[in-house]
Amino acid sequence: MKLGIDMGGMSIKMGLVNEENKIIGRITIPTDLTVPYQTLVERMADAVRQMLENAGMTLEQCGGIGIGSPGTIDAKQGVILYSNNFGWENVPIVEELKKQISVMAMLKLNRLHLHLTDNQGWRIAIDKYPQLVEYSAVQETYNEELYGPCYYTKEDIKELVAYAGRHHIEVIPEIEFPGHSLSVLVPFPELSCSGGPFKSEQVFGYEENVFCVGNDSVFAFMENVLTEIAELFPARYLHIGGDECVKRYWQTCPRCQALAQRLNLRPTPEHSVEEQLQSYAIKRMERFISGTLGKRMIGWEEILEGGLPEDATVMSWKGTECGAKAAATGHDVVMASMADGLYLCAAQGADEVEPAAMGGQSYLKDVYEFEPLPKELAPDKRKHVIGTQACLWSEWTTSGELLEYMLYPRTVALAETYSFGCDSFYCFYRRRRFG
Ligand code: ACM
Ligand code: ZN
Repeated sequence: MKLGIDMGGMSIKMGLVNEENKIIGRITIPTDLTVPYQTLVERMADAVRQMLENAGMTLEQCGGIGIGSPGTIDAKQGVILYSNNFGWENVPIVEELKKQISVMAMLKLNRLHLHLTDNQGWRIAIDKYPQLVEYSAVQETYNEELYGPCYYTKEDIKELVAYAGRHHIEVIPEIEFPGHSLSVLVPFPELSCSGGPFKSEQVFGYEENVFCVGNDSVFAFMENVLTEIAELFPARYLHIGGDECVKRYWQTCPRCQALAQRLNLRPTPEHSVEEQLQSYAIKRMERFISGTLGKRMIGWEEILEGGLPEDATVMSWKGTECGAKAAATGHDVVMASMADGLYLCAAQGADEVEPAAMGGQSYLKDVYEFEPLPKELAPDKRKHVIGTQACLWSEWTTSGELLEYMLYPRTVALAETYSFGCDSFYCFYRRRRFG
C-alpha cells in the first residue's frame, strides 16, 4: 500500500494506491497563499486518516510515502522586534503589527517572534508584577525627556494572537534570561548579584548587571512570568533569550559561586564555570517550559555555551556556525544569521543615503541568496534546520513608515530563502519588479 502526495499549484492531491497499483482513494486539499506549512500538514494528516478509514485500513498497513513535488515549503519565520526606543509612543503598534501580519501571510511567513523584554524596557503587562511596566515601560530619551509607557496589554496580545491565528501565523514571545534583563532589575534589584539600584539603559549594548542565577527567587520570578506568558501565547515555542549574558558579576557573587560549588562545577578547556552556570540556569528553565508549561524552548545561540538542554531549539544569529553545530547534534535550528544579511536593522544601501541603522549593510541580494543549509552539515542532519528568520530590532525604527521601509523588500526575499529550487536573484528581481 502506498500513499502518493502531489504538492503544487493551488492544491495538494493525495492518493492511496494498493499492491496492484490501483488507486483506492484520493483526496484533493485546496490551499491558497495564506495556508502555512503546519496547517497543510494537519490537513494532509486528516486526509490520510479519512482515506485510510474509507479503505478500511490502518496506518501501519501503509508502506511508504512518495512526495511528488520539489516545491515543499518548510517552516519559515519572520520577525518584528518591538523592544525599545522612543518614537513608538505615537505608533498604534497593534494596528501596525496587524498590517505586517497580513503581509507576512501573503508571503507565507508563518512565525512572528516578539522580543518583549530587554535592558531598555519591559514591554508586556504581567499581572503578578505590575511594577515591570510601571517602572520599565517608561524611559528617558537621549535628551532626558520621558517617553512611554510603551507596552502591550494582555488585551493587545490577545487581539494580535487571534489576528495572527486567522492568518495562520504563530506569535512566539521572548522573555530574556539570564542577560538583557536590566528592566527587571530596575523594580526588583534584589534579583541581581550586586543589589542595585538600577536605571534602564537608553541605548543598546552590553549590560553587566544580569539576573543572579545563585538566587532561587530569580527562578520563581521567571516561572511566574512564563506561566502568564504561556497562557497568553498559544504558540508551541517559548523563546528564553539567552544571548550576550555578561557573567562578570557571577564570578564574584557569593550566591552564584556557592551554587557553582554545590553543582561541583570546574572549568574545562571548553567552558568556564560561569558558562556552566548559564547552562544550568537555561536547562532549569527548559525543564519548566517543557515539563510544566508543555512548550518547547528556543533560545539564541549562546545557549550552547556550557552545554545545551536536550530538547532546546537554537536560533543561530551571529552566523550559521552555531546553528550547524547544534543541528549536527540533533537540535532543531532556526537560521537568523546577522553575518548573512538577516538583520534587517542594517542599512539596505550605502550609509550616506539610508536612514540611521544598526551599522553594516544587508542588501536585498544578500537576503535572497542566503543559504540556510550549511555545507558542512551532513545530509541526514539538514532536517534540523527548521526555518530562517529575519530580525528587525527596532532601536532605529521610530515610526511605522520606517519599520516598513526596513522590512520591505528584504522580507519578500526572506520568504524565498527556504524555497527549494529558487531562481537566480536576477530572476527574483525581475519577477518582483523592484526599483
Ligand atoms: C542578538 O542580536 N543579541 C540576538
Ligand atoms: Zn549572583
